[in-house]
Amino acid sequence: MGDSLPRHVGIIMDGNGRWAKQRGLPRTEGHKQGAEVFERICDHCAELGIPCVTFYAFSTENWARPPGEVAAIMDLLRHWLRKAEEREGENRRRGIRLRFIGELSALPEDIQSLAADAEDHTRAHTRTICNLAVNYGGRLEILRAAQTLAAQCQTGARNAIDLTEEDIAAQLYTPEYPDVDLLIRPSGEKRLSNFLLWQAAYAEFWYADTLWPDFTTAHFEQALADFAKRSRRYGG
Ligand code: FPP
Repeated sequence: MGDSLPRHVGIIMDGNGRWAKQRGLPRTEGHKQGAEVFERICDHCAELGIPCVTFYAFSTENWARPPGEVAAIMDLLRHWLRKAEEREGENRRRGIRLRFIGELSALPEDIQSLAADAEDHTRAHTRTICNLAVNYGGRLEILRAAQTLAAQCQTGARNAIDLTEEDIAAQLYTPEYPDVDLLIRPSGEKRLSNFLLWQAAYAEFWYADTLWPDFTTAHFEQALADFAKRSRRYGG
């Protein structure tokens, strides 16, 4: 696959609720299964040497869900972060660096602290960045960047008329990441849903009807194979 491997894959983990409903289970069971698939796909990205993969775990809009469901997703995050501590050696062997994007300051404090530890402990791993978007919103990310730049213009540190796209990109959560090459959304929905709005400007989209808890490494391989066949023109 070589050169045609995407440098950055974005994944919207959608369909957990429907997966659970089909089985007569509570929605939280769908998220639980979804968290397992997330781990499998993350490991697979490292096996393939994909430099960066970003998973949409919780959006700024997801707070509107029933409190029990929000708490269950937070519990899954907590559980996975504790497990990540235990599998530190495994992450080192696989070269997985853990990162987080979003407004983490609104999350329970223990999760913030576990996330900071996970970032610290995996900082030196270089094969794959496994990036988790938590309390993330693309518009909010761009707004934050605009606020920072506006403040710098106000103090005279910058001149508004000279601002460039690179200046905005440098203020996003992911200044050092490559743009998203491939955006995967399972479950039949065909929306971007406020995910990596700036970074996915030229992303190739890949959809499947499969619900996220049923998503396998074979689906992922299919997405990569389809991506390799696409001709990317960047508007040119
Ligand atoms: C969207 O499916 C999914 C979410 C809002 C939550 C995704 C969270 C996880 C997979 C677990 C997070 C934990 C870790 C460790 C990453 P949906 O609930 O909107 O599904 P539906 O459209 O079928 O209702």
